[in-house]
Order: sequence, then C-alpha cells, then structure tokens
Amino acid sequence: MTWPGTDGERAAVVSLWGKLDAGAVGAEALRRLLIVYPWTQRYFASFGDLSSDAAIAGNPKVAAHGKVVMGGLDKAVKHIDDIASAFKSLSTMH
Ligand code: HEM
Repeated sequence: MTWPGTDGERAAVVSLWGKLDAGAVGAEALRRLLIVYPWTQRYFASFGDLSSDAAIAGNPKVAAHGKVVMGGLDKAVKHIDDIASAFKSLSTMH
C-alpha cells in the first residue's frame, strides 16, 4: 500500500520522527503499555520481573526492547511508501 496521506503529512511524519530520541521514547512507550494494559505482560514472560509498576519501570529488558520496537517503526518511516512489504516478516512474527 502506498502512503495514503498528503505529501505535507508525509514530510511532517519524517521530520517529527527525526527529532525523537528512540531509546527514551521506546522505553517509555513499552513501560506504559505493560503498566496500563497489564494483560500484555503475558507475551513478555522472558523479560523477568514485571510484578509491579516499579519493576517494569526499572527492568532493563523492557527498556532495551522499547528501543527495538522503535527500530521497527524507523523502518516504517524509511519505507513510508511501501510499509506493507517492509513489515511483511515483522507482521508474520506478530
Ligand atoms: C507499534 C507496534 C509494534 C512494533 C513496531 C513492534 C516491533 C517489534 C520488533 C522490531 C520486534 C523484534 C523482532 C525480531 O526480533 O525479529 C518485536 C518483537 C516482539 N514483539 Fe513487537 N512490536 C509492536 C507491537 C507489539 C505488541 C502490541 C505486542 C504484544 C502485546 C508485541 C509483542 C512482541 C514480542 C513478544 C516480541 C518478542 C520479544 C522478545 O522476546 O525478544 N509487539 N516487536
């Protein structure tokens, strides 16, 4: 699928993405996912202690994986005109 938005929107996405700190944003986003939607913890049993908000916030595997997820989104931004094929293997895995 090609990018469905306007050229201006595409430029805004690429520009904003370039300003983010992937490590910080990714870690924070995954922490929030695990805290706000606790049932998602079941997929991350291998990450060790997720037993409290503090444990999640301090868990280095959560922070590291948040950065990995941002790498996935970075790929989407870099292939913004063909996200479906860029995400094929990631989509199958999920
Ligand atoms: C914006 C949405 C998401 C993106 C871009 C994303 C991206 C990624 C990436 C890049 C990987 C690493 C794949 C590899 O090692 O080849 C991964 C792994 C994984 N993802 Fe996602 N993900 C997303 C959403 C989710 C959600 C919502 C869940 C479950 C609630 C999830 C569960 C997992 C799990 C369990 C792994 C394997 C973790 C491990 O044991 O290392 N992901 N994801």
